[in-house]
This record gives sequence, structure tokens and C-alpha cells, in this order.
Amino acid sequence: MAKIAGNLALKCLHILVLYVYVTSVVLAARVLPVHPYLQSNEKPISNIFDTSKYGILQIKNGLADTPQMGWNSWNFFACNINETVIKETADALISTGLAKLGYIYVNIDDCWSGTKRNSKGQLVHDPKTFPSGIKALADYVHSKGLKLGIYSDAGVFTCQVRAGSLYHEYDDAALFASWGVDYLKYDNCFNLGIKPEKRYPPMRDALNASGRAIFYSICEWGEDDPALWAGKVGNSWRTTEDINDTWASMTAIADINDKWAPYAGPGGWNDPDMLEVGNGGMTYLEYRAHFSIWALMKAPLLVGCDVRNMTAETFEILSNEEVIAVNQDRLGVQGRKVYVYGNDNCYQIWAGPMSGNRLTVALWNRCSKPATITAKWDALGLDSSITVSVRDLWKHKFVSANSVGSFSANVDSHSCEMYIFTPQTETASFGH
Ligand code: GLA
Repeated sequence: MAKIAGNLALKCLHILVLYVYVTSVVLAARVLPVHPYLQSNEKPISNIFDTSKYGILQIKNGLADTPQMGWNSWNFFACNINETVIKETADALISTGLAKLGYIYVNIDDCWSGTKRNSKGQLVHDPKTFPSGIKALADYVHSKGLKLGIYSDAGVFTCQVRAGSLYHEYDDAALFASWGVDYLKYDNCFNLGIKPEKRYPPMRDALNASGRAIFYSICEWGEDDPALWAGKVGNSWRTTEDINDTWASMTAIADINDKWAPYAGPGGWNDPDMLEVGNGGMTYLEYRAHFSIWALMKAPLLVGCDVRNMTAETFEILSNEEVIAVNQDRLGVQGRKVYVYGNDNCYQIWAGPMSGNRLTVALWNRCSKPATITAKWDALGLDSSITVSVRDLWKHKFVSANSVGSFSANVDSHSCEMYIFTPQTETASFGH
């Protein structure tokens, strides 16, 4: 009897130990969320780089491991597009070398289609501007090693009042797949007042069912806080209304997109809208800041200018391989605004973790005069004793071998200097 009671007590003890162990593991997992794509030897440097809100993918196309790169017709051409412009743009992406740097999506925005569906109920190309049809264009773009993007709307019309895809999701996704389309931007006009959480998932399911890997770019303008739900729906989601080619618009949009940083990760990115670099409304330094911050925020890098006629300065910005590498870093954690000071908080430090235990750091002067801006280790989540080497991504050279505690630089008005900080170990070397 005593033996049976003893065995029972032992069993209870085992169950209790197991219960305590499982509970502590579950609690630990809750308290310390680990980014799903971190390598086992990498840890977030600081909880300001928290990615715990990152969603579980339900768009099954295996795309968007890193933010999408390419070109989109809207910011420069608006509705003035035709198949020649699209083909010449594909040619220019190749001849300028931008395609080799990763800009591979050639995305046609609104106005490619007719106002009505055909007698079979299908979407059709505008016969005047796209006489050869979209399949021929996809074939052309593919023959250059590039990918073709198209546009539709989760409403009854697109924003320029062409036929929309609401309630036609499966037919339209199948049609896009049959044409060889690789990317869908899905807009929000004429939506009948139905919530986006209801209107966007059917197209995800239709794309999943189409048999083709089609990048799904959700564009509901940040209206219903898409970061909270779109990680389960698409590969990227717009967080703001449309950008325009001004400093005021660009800075406002950067700040809104920043709020949603913990929700971005490989497979699904916050989208603060397409680049305005090269369209003429901002200065060279403002465009450099725009490109730097978009790269750091892991935003889609979709060129929005006429790449057939770029200036040398525009090309220099868009082709900065070191800044592109920040955007395309495999760790995939969105950098964010970590510290602000000065009048109207116009001295700003933006930073984010990178693979290899590195950091990217941007010193952004949003004041109207040049200034020295200082990033303290504290604000970056770095231990105060850590020594880092600092590489300047616009000067393309190392500017410090051994910074400790803080790093300062003179930054022109509206300029943004951008760096990679690499913690130094005894064996680490310092070179050019
Ligand atoms: C909306 C989108 C823009 C663009 C236009 C096209 O405004 O947000 O990015 O696609 O429609 O009409």
C-alpha cells in the first residue's frame, strides 16, 4: 500500500515538474519573442527592435523574403502610359544597370484596362494604349529577365474608374496568371463601404489558387491600420495615403510608417508608398534622405521616375549598392526612429539591426540649418563599452575604426547621413 502511495506521489511530482517546465517555456516564449527569421546565434540588439507583432503568412507564394524592388508607372506618368513606355522602361532598367542591382519588377499602375469588362465578363486591356495586350507585354518583360506587375482594385472601379475586381477575384487572378503576371497592386477605390479586412483576403485566396506565384501588394492607404491584419493577407501593405513629390509629404509619411515597424518582416512589409526620387520636387539631399530612410525602414524600393531620362544625381541615389544592401538585408527587421532632439525634434536618429550583429544608423537633420548630430549608444541599444567601426554609406568609406559611447557628424539641412556600425572584436579588421 505504502509502495503504491509512494509511486503515486512520484508520478504527481513528475507531472508537477513537467507542468512547471512547460509553463515556464510558454511564458518565456511570450516574454521574449524571437524574430522568426533570426539565426540561432543572432539576437535582437535591443527591445527597441522588437518584431513580436510580425504576422503568420497566409499568402503562399514564397515571395518577399526582402522588400520588393522595381519601378511603378504612377508617380511620374499617372494615366499617360502605353505599352511603348512600359517596354522602354524595361529596356532602361537593363541598360542603366538598375535591374542588376535588384530593380526587377516593372509595375503598370492604373489605366492599363478598359472601363468595362468584355462580353465574357473578363478584364480587358485598353485597346488604344495597350493594343498588343498584357500577355505580349509580360512575354517581352520576361525575355529581359524582369517581372511584370499589374494593378486592380478591391472595389467596383479602380481610382481612375476602370473596371475593378471586387466579386471577380478568382476570375481575375486566373486571368492575370494566364498572362504571366508576377505582381498585383490592389487598390481601394469604389469599395462600397465594405471593410478592407473583408475585401482583401478573397484576392489572397484567389492568387493562392491561381497556381502562379504572384506578389500581392495591398493598397488600402493605411485606412484600417493594415499592419494589424494584412500580415496574414499580402506581401506588403500601404500604411499611408499617397506620397507626393515634396519634403513635407515624404517626412510625414516616414513618420506614419515608422509607427508600424514591429509588424514588418520577411514575407510581409509596411509600404510607405513609392519613391519620388528623380521627379524634381525635392533637392538632391532631400531625395538622398528619402532613399536612405525608405531603405532603412525596409520599404519597397519602387522607383517612381522616368528611368529612360534620369539625371546622373538620380542614378547615383537609386544605384547606391550599400544603401540597397541595408534594405535587402536578410535579417529583415524594419529600422525605426530611435531618438530625437532639438527644435521640433528635428535632429533625428533612425536605426535598425542588421545581420552579422551590425546596425544601420541614420543621422537625419530635419532642421533648416546644418548641425552636428550625435547618436549615443544608449539610444541605439548598444552597451556603453562597445567599440564599433563606422562605414559611411554615401561617402563609401570607413569614417571611424573605434567609436565608443557615441558618434557625431555634421549633417546639412534636410540631409541624412547613413552608416553601418560593426562592433569590433579583437580579431576584427578595419579596411577600406
Ligand atoms: C490610388 C493609389 C495610388 C495610385 C492611384 C491610381 O490613389 O493609392 O498609388 O495607384 O490610385 O489611380
